Amino acid sequence: MGNFQVIAHPLIQHKLSILRRTTTSTKDFRELVNEIAMLMGYEVWRDLPLEDVEIETPITKTIQKQLAGKKLAIVPILRAGIGMVDGLLSLVPAAKVGHIGMYRDEETLEPVEYLVKLPEDIEQRQVFLVDPMLATGGSAILGVDSLKKRGATNIKFVCLVAAPEGVAKLRAAHPDIDIYTAALDEKLNEQSYIVPGLGDAGDRLFGTK
Ligand code: PRP
Ligand code: URA
Repeated sequence: MGNFQVIAHPLIQHKLSILRRTTTSTKDFRELVNEIAMLMGYEVWRDLPLEDVEIETPITKTIQKQLAGKKLAIVPILRAGIGMVDGLLSLVPAAKVGHIGMYRDEETLEPVEYLVKLPEDIEQRQVFLVDPMLATGGSAILGVDSLKKRGATNIKFVCLVAAPEGVAKLRAAHPDIDIYTAALDEKLNEQSYIVPGLGDAGDRLFGTK
């Protein structure tokens, strides 16, 4: 079974509280999503493999460490996942970025996939599927289905706010993947919004409502 981890660093908790507030502007919301994603990256990438490298300092030659060149891919679920990409890329600028477009049908609440564009060697990469919200779990499950169908085997899901219902559904559907979130909230409401949550992440990020 993959790991489930709440990354509750004080800086993340503080920024998340600002993010949740109704009064937070679109500009601040966008900045905070990126900042929190970047802070989460420290923990998510804690186990990146290192290798020895010989370098020369002004004083001497020495054997030090560098990243072992493991290939990474960051794959946001559109739209809201896009908000996390720059923050994560600021830590691993060489990562490739794929996109999976999906929206929740407002009647059925089921996710509908409308775009998939991935790095062509996706099966060789460690893939970080990112979306600020894990609510019913439908979008994340379809996102992982989509990645697996195209050959990805090493997948981790990173979100900012998760509902217990979504975590349980995602773990049941894909027990092999690790899940990271900045907060595990209380529940879903009747419209399948996360409570207390932060509202509609895509609309708040792009100012569309
Ligand atoms: C939101 C969010 C997730 C999804 C989570 O996207 O960004 O993708 O809902 O809900 P679920 O776990 O119940 O599937 P939305 O469908 O609102 O699309 P948007 O990002 O384009 O606004
Ligand atoms: N999608 C969102 O953007 N917010 C929620 O609370 C649930 C799904």
